[in-house]
Amino acid sequence: MEMTARTREPSPTPADRAERILDPPQTAAERRAVRHKLEEPAPTTKVSVRNLNFYYGNNQALFDNNIDIPALRVTAVIGPSGCGKSTHIRVYNRIYELYRDHRATGEVWVDGRDILSPNTNLLELRKRVGMIFQRPTPFPMTIFENIAYGIRLHYRASRSEVSDRVAHALKLSALWDEVAEKLDEPATALSGGQQQRLCIARAIAVEPELILMDEPCSAIDPVATAKIEELIEVLKDDYTVVLVTHNMQQAARVSDFTAFFYKGYIVEFGPTVEIFQNPKEKRTQDYITGRFG
Ligand SMILES: Nc1ncnc2c1ncn2[C@@H]1O[C@H](COP(=O)(O)OP(=O)(O)OP(=O)(O)O)[C@@H](O)[C@H]1O
Ligand SMILES: [Mg+2]
Repeated sequence: MEMTARTREPSPTPADRAERILDPPQTAAERRAVRHKLEEPAPTTKVSVRNLNFYYGNNQALFDNNIDIPALRVTAVIGPSGCGKSTHIRVYNRIYELYRDHRATGEVWVDGRDILSPNTNLLELRKRVGMIFQRPTPFPMTIFENIAYGIRLHYRASRSEVSDRVAHALKLSALWDEVAEKLDEPATALSGGQQQRLCIARAIAVEPELILMDEPCSAIDPVATAKIEELIEVLKDDYTVVLVTHNMQQAARVSDFTAFFYKGYIVEFGPTVEIFQNPKEKRTQDYITGRFG
């Protein structure tokens, strides 16, 4: 038999990655492999944040945040409770505007447009920038309708196109096999981990460019967490992902870049391997080694 397939090294699983990052390589060959990884061509920028300040009434929660989020990569946002992680990512789709007296100043450029500018179309922005919350938030509708709703809102699609898109989103979210037979059942009847994957399916069904996830695994069990981490790995082929997490293992497993927040400031940002193995700031080191937070 003729051998046509090129031999290709199996790509590392999320667990392999975490082991490599949290337990740095020892041999010269291993260190070289990590260096090669760091020398991959720099990705383009998806979001440029310039001098972002955020206020809850008179209380300032973010101070002069500046960051460039790389496109088609996973960026982890880490830092102790109350440091401004959620506040920061909630600016990217202006979801904070649902509340009076929550206010942002500065610039947030998404693909060359400053989304903080007053003439931003919010419906369109929230299609471009999807969000997954800590607790799954299915709509009180059937599984099918949860996903079809956004598709109908944003696209002129025939019934069969809607069905195709719903199925596609559920397959991408690794939920299809579990729900294909019960699309007409209420979404609230799913388990917490399934509901969270449904919310991810709902977000990707409208083809956003950027997906924000605010501690998406903190309310679900380890098996469901592993499924969502695998899904994030797959998503970054097509989407830019920003993931807030308290779990250092998770940040090391799934992210390419990491931002460390502290008291409303971005203290350090860089490739995840560098932040975990060789942080420049002592506060970053203290946090990731568990000395506070
Ligand atoms: N709705 C609100 N009204 C007033 N202050 C708020 C509000 N939400 C957050 N804050 C304050 O803003 C700061 C940042 O909060 P934020 O929720 O962004 O932190 P976080 O890093 O996401 O924390 P956690 O890890 O606990 O989720 C905190 O001091 C918090 O008390
Ligand atoms: Mg938070």
